Amino acid sequence: MQQDFKKYYNPEDFREQGHKLVDHLADYLHACLDLEDFPVLPWKDPEEQYQYWKEYFEDDKVKNPEHFYTDVLKQSIHVHHPRYIGHQVVPPLPQAALTELLEAFSNNSMAVYEMGPAATAIERVLIEWMALQFGWGKESGGFITSGGSLGNLTALLTARQNHPKAKLPSEKLAMMLSSESHYSNDRAGKIMGLSPENIMFLPVKKHRILVDKLPSLLKQADSEGKSVFALTANACSTSTGIYDPLDEIAAFCKENNIWMHVDAAHGGPAIFSKKYRYLLQGIERADSIVIDFHKMMLTPALTTAVLFKDGKTPYKTFQQQAAYLLSREKEWFDIAKRSIECTKKPMALKVFMMIKTYGKELFKEYIEYTYDLAREFADMIKNNKNFELATEPESNIVCFRLIDQGKCDDKLNSLNSKLREQIVRSGKFYIVQTDIGGKIYLRITIMNPFTNKKSLLLLLAVLQDASEVSLK
Ligand SMILES: Cc1ncc(COP(=O)(O)O)c(C=O)c1O
Repeated sequence: MQQDFKKYYNPEDFREQGHKLVDHLADYLHACLDLEDFPVLPWKDPEEQYQYWKEYFEDDKVKNPEHFYTDVLKQSIHVHHPRYIGHQVVPPLPQAALTELLEAFSNNSMAVYEMGPAATAIERVLIEWMALQFGWGKESGGFITSGGSLGNLTALLTARQNHPKAKLPSEKLAMMLSSESHYSNDRAGKIMGLSPENIMFLPVKKHRILVDKLPSLLKQADSEGKSVFALTANACSTSTGIYDPLDEIAAFCKENNIWMHVDAAHGGPAIFSKKYRYLLQGIERADSIVIDFHKMMLTPALTTAVLFKDGKTPYKTFQQQAAYLLSREKEWFDIAKRSIECTKKPMALKVFMMIKTYGKELFKEYIEYTYDLAREFADMIKNNKNFELATEPESNIVCFRLIDQGKCDDKLNSLNSKLREQIVRSGKFYIVQTDIGGKIYLRITIMNPFTNKKSLLLLLAVLQDASEVSLK
């Protein structure tokens, strides 16, 4: 009986299939980098896509894994394609993807040290190294978790549990966040049981928190009997890529004993660049920071660091008894004591390996290339009378729209939305859109280091041509 399983775990089949898969992915990468002309997104309606895979699943004749790999790739969005400039998902580095196979196959699940000895220690080394980049020392700590959304929830739960008034009922606890914060911060408040009135969206000017308004908002919360336990600042915001004034926010938080959380899921890696580090000034005064490696650190999703200035704070968050798994001690090596996840992938391996192989120079080059190119694109927009910028970019996110003299915002909104849909469905580019104060802007995020000035000039030309047809 036991012998039968050998056919599923056959090492030689594994070797052969693995080589074929890597060959296939390497050919795919060639095609992307050599700019072979294929659509970024091979558009199919969701129903059609569903029918295709349903029939595939039910077809007993199609069993070959190679066929499956080719077909999945063919019908996926191509993030390595230089004309992928949409949502904040990076084309992962080949070496990171290879290391992820090691993560998957070793399946060290990490809740307790014994279930991932190397991975647990590697994670600690990585977290210490990350904390050091922000100027934090030995007293800091943190861990890796599955995504920025879970990271923000973890940080905000920790903020509440460490607040002197943590035991107050949730109707007496409030948190502040930028009205431009990623929705996961608001959602974290809701998961924590805060009522909508106790999730205080802060006013912004030019997409930055208006620090001058903070004292009066806090006074108002006080007068309503609410205790503000946390404030989330952006570095940078999702929609427009703008950084909050972290230093000034830190001063307010310290003065008022409010936990400062910085959602640096996207823009935290600017710390690796001397040229752009100024955007993060004051981040070292935060109590917690979230950084997604799968956004600006070339890593496959999901891999996120949650860093705490005081590494002991997250023990309070999840104090629980699980006699079969966790002791009461506060050792560093049974990570489930501090994290939402029990089983988790040994996600630090791939980041550790990338840093060992390429050093932090890799991230510096990547940040500077993509942030510089966003500024060049903004200049192209400013020099073209048919387009306008929503705001000067600070990161690699740029929002802009096509304008047409004499057309009202409603008409421009429907024109820009229509153009985006047309272009995405044509497969020529992958771009997204956002709503800023009721105006629809096209939004690009330069995630791909093979996107260049030429690709962006082509984008403007394609948009312009499409609009001429639409406006006829
Ligand atoms: C600033 C910011 N925070 C958090 C998130 C959520 O991260 P994830 O998609 O890894 O859950 C995003 C995603 O775009 C983001 O831009």
